[in-house]
Amino acid sequence: MASVGLVGLGVMGRNLALNLSRRGYKVVVYNRTKEVTDRFISGYGGSGLTPAYSPDEVARKLDAPRIILLMVTAGKAVDDVIRSISPYLSSGDVLSDLGNSHFRDTQRREFSLDPSGIHYCGVGVSGGEEGALRGPSIMVGGPSKAWEILKKPMSDISARAFDGTPCASWVGEDGAGHYVKMVHNAIEYVVMELIGECYGVFKALDFSNGEISDIFQLWNEGRSKSYLLEISAKVLRRKDELSGGDLVDKILDSAEQKGTGKWAAESCLELGVPAFSFAVAALDRSMSSFKLVREKASSLEPNRVNKPNLGRREAQEALGTAFSGAQLCAYAQGFSLLEAARNEYGWHTDLAEVARIWQGGCIIRADLLKQIREALLSGAHDSILLDPDIHREIVKCDKAWRNVVSRALEARIPLPGFTSTLAYRDSLFTERLPANLIQALRDYFGAHTYRRVDREGVFHTDWSGG
Ligand code: 3PG
Repeated sequence: MASVGLVGLGVMGRNLALNLSRRGYKVVVYNRTKEVTDRFISGYGGSGLTPAYSPDEVARKLDAPRIILLMVTAGKAVDDVIRSISPYLSSGDVLSDLGNSHFRDTQRREFSLDPSGIHYCGVGVSGGEEGALRGPSIMVGGPSKAWEILKKPMSDISARAFDGTPCASWVGEDGAGHYVKMVHNAIEYVVMELIGECYGVFKALDFSNGEISDIFQLWNEGRSKSYLLEISAKVLRRKDELSGGDLVDKILDSAEQKGTGKWAAESCLELGVPAFSFAVAALDRSMSSFKLVREKASSLEPNRVNKPNLGRREAQEALGTAFSGAQLCAYAQGFSLLEAARNEYGWHTDLAEVARIWQGGCIIRADLLKQIREALLSGAHDSILLDPDIHREIVKCDKAWRNVVSRALEARIPLPGFTSTLAYRDSLFTERLPANLIQALRDYFGAHTYRRVDREGVFHTDWSGG
């Protein structure tokens, strides 16, 4: 009998199946299209993989309690598979969706399967194709009972954190696994935005792609060490096989997105969490895809962008410092959103544990997660930026961060990522914001009332008299 069932043999599903079989698991694999299953088995046969050709065959070939992992496209396909396989499952079995589903869908699915006793889990998996094969970061959401069953296989196939522990953990009930993955992706969007903006400033200063690659490489040997910096350095060195030159110069500047960044921004609005940069990073991808409008607009202002008033060495150092401060603010916004969601949805999400399982395998793995985890362990739940060590770090970045941002803005280089992270930092550390005037205006035209600084209660003023 097999120990794990895997449904959906796209590249992620195939790699997860191989990862499981390499760790000694017997895996029964199934794809809706028979040829896909046969091709996979004939290509990789003899390694503990058994084919199944129907949902009931998957169920029949598994030991109880069954573990079934779904790796199908988020949306209707997940509902279809659940509908086709759940009649063959029993109470105590674990059915897990490892795709990028919206956490609300996961909540709905868990709720509808609950009476059957089938444990439904929404599992965030990060690491791309390579991670699925060699060890991803795995964020399991769902009933804690299911985690008892999933813990061993998920830990066995996952990456390792800095202390050698598996990057797989239970992160809370129902939709929490997919929510944590959504926040992971939102941080990913912001960090990529920041790296892109650094590249933009360097280009305006006439650095070559090779020089920018060297700088990213250098940053990656210091405090900002991260997977995204590492691959940015590599991408900038890649030559174009079709027409020569650097490949990056041939790629259309129109960024796409599959939805998780947008969902995170929507969740910020819904929960009232001021993670400015999540909205900005998703929306700046939209701005990039306004390519035709930008072409028309920029033709009205040729030679609009100036060279920033920065020396090359100065730019390199200041941007490196600014990047490290801004990156901390990106993670701070992520953990602040997780804290709000955990309170709103009643999840028992351990934020320090999230910082641990993001240390290996996932796209946002970065050295700074060690310090973030320590801050969270010492109780910096309001904001990791209030942790004394992280706060000191941010203050140290301040001067260079502001200097490079203002020089680049003077030169008319757009920096939504850097300005939004800086605005987040400044607003968070400002005791009195000008929102009192907003409240007064709301009360003036809409009688929306306001609260006062000097006494309890709700007040309204008849402004016509003043
Ligand atoms: C993914 O989850 O596939 C990526 O990390 C994010 O995808 P996107 O950039 O296409 O939204």
